[in-house]
Amino acid sequence: MSRIEKQQFRRICGKFASGITVATVLDPEGACHGMTANSFTSVSLTPPLVLICVGHRARIREHFRIGAYFGINILSASQKVLSDRFASSDSNPFEGISWYPGKTGVPLLPDVLATIECSRVNVVTAGDHDIVIGEVIHAGCRDGEPLVFYGGQYRCLE
Ligand SMILES: Cc1cc2nc3c(=O)[nH]c(=O)nc-3n(C[C@H](O)[C@H](O)[C@H](O)COP(=O)(O)O)c2cc1C
Repeated sequence: MSRIEKQQFRRICGKFASGITVATVLDPEGACHGMTANSFTSVSLTPPLVLICVGHRARIREHFRIGAYFGINILSASQKVLSDRFASSDSNPFEGISWYPGKTGVPLLPDVLATIECSRVNVVTAGDHDIVIGEVIHAGCRDGEPLVFYGGQYRCLE
């Protein structure tokens, strides 16, 4: 049986609407790193576990593999600019924007719909991605409209 062609696989997976997060982590020197990720998924209620998938080619990969904690910022409809910024390969995405350290020290972004701080419990290599699993240790949310990703494009809920 032939494997599915890459573009077709992307097109099919794009039929699944998601929110958008910025996943953050500190490196051993305490510098901030972040990456736009729509692979965020809740995994378990007891204990509360979540995951993100990190591509092997992402520069941030090693930091997620060794960092004790990571953060998830769920973006609101008005934060497309943050999604673009943290998806870009340009310099330091934290430069010139406001952020604050969470209780675990991971960088969090103001005005997002939800923040989640996790302790890393496992990293599973799957194909060309790492599945980074974390236990939620601090979290909060507020009302608002989400930024949505569907069919390779940003959307807002009607
Ligand atoms: C909407 C959106 C969702 C993304 N989701 C993921 C993701 O879940 N996992 C991932 O590894 N990269 C994801 N990316 C790509 C990364 O944000 C980033 O562009 C990539 O890691 C390249 O970073 P680098 O060149 O600094 O290493 C996403 C990009 C966009 C625009």
